[in-house]
Amino acid sequence: MRTSAVVAGLGSALPPNRVTNDDLTKELDTSDEWITSRTGVRQRFTVPVGMATSDLAVVAAQRALSSSGMTTVEAVVLATSTPDHPCPATAPDVATRLGLAQVAAFDVAAVCAGFVYALATAAGLIESRVVNSALVIGADTFSTILHPQDRTTRVIFGDGAGAVVLRAGNAAIDGALLAFDLGSDGTGRDLITVWGGGARQRSSRIVPAAADLHFAMQGKAVFNRAVQCMGTSVAATVRSVGWDVTDLDLLVAHQANARILRAIGQQLDLDEDQVAVNLDRVGNTVAASIPLALADAVATGRLRPGHHVALAAFGGGLTWGSAVLRWPDIPVAME
Ligand code: ACO
Repeated sequence: MRTSAVVAGLGSALPPNRVTNDDLTKELDTSDEWITSRTGVRQRFTVPVGMATSDLAVVAAQRALSSSGMTTVEAVVLATSTPDHPCPATAPDVATRLGLAQVAAFDVAAVCAGFVYALATAAGLIESRVVNSALVIGADTFSTILHPQDRTTRVIFGDGAGAVVLRAGNAAIDGALLAFDLGSDGTGRDLITVWGGGARQRSSRIVPAAADLHFAMQGKAVFNRAVQCMGTSVAATVRSVGWDVTDLDLLVAHQANARILRAIGQQLDLDEDQVAVNLDRVGNTVAASIPLALADAVATGRLRPGHHVALAAFGGGLTWGSAVLRWPDIPVAME
């Protein structure tokens, strides 16, 4: 039987600062009613001064390793669009701080689809026998790139990290990643951006305005694309392994907006309890969104060994992807 990558451990981490909707109304022209009804978010967590993406990534990864019972892995793939520095990548530092000597380590940038892209990349490394095990981490600290006065983004995003350990196995084992679907559409590149700070702005010699150094999103323009891309991608991946969408016990989709999650559920004809929701408690945590939602679903008993699970993500780029697996019998370590 050919080698498959198998999920063997899961961990997550949230930063210490809890920010409720009422907290935001003290700084922004917004209301708990607007945020809750338009997004579903009730609170999010943000990093204190001095804490960065790698700090959360290390904690989530340590918890994933402890959940797996493994002490080492041969690769670290970190999905993030808020790396500690523009250069070098953050993953080698994370690997070293985890005590993983000289393993392969690199970042994957696909914004909110980053975790599924990183999972597919690490699974490919295992299936092609380049490595026998890997940590896949999704970690972002979007609070560090949001404009403090931008009510359209500050109400949505939160910081966090989640990680899974993958090991070599076969497709018959619960936890085996059975199929992926990945896609992108660069014509939507201007819809989710940090315009300044990159080579395009630097080579143009244009001094960026403060707003251009912060994150911007045309939310309305991407709403329908998010629903359509995640729904279509999940349906294709589920079909590719011979399942029907009705076989799914749980869809763990990117936690962008409660209305998006409801719309995908309706598109796929899923009941409300077949779609994981934790964004009310953590907001949109970008690349950390899916592993944080997985950890929440395991901790609450919503996700159990043997369950048929689909993961789906959509983000800047535009990028999207999905994956399917049967959930393994692993403990979860989270905050
Ligand atoms: N409080 C009060 N009013 C607000 C707020 C706020 N926080 N934010 C915006 N408004 C106002 C707007 O100014 C607008 O006012 P107007 O009608 O007078 O112009 C009104 O509320 C409606 O704004 P919309 O942008 O039309 O609100 P919408 O219902 O579309 O919700 C949201 C916005 C939450 C961003 C939604 O469009 C969304 O979730 N989009 C998808 C996001 C997504 O999936 N992104 C991809 C993944 S994220 C990533 O890759 C990083």
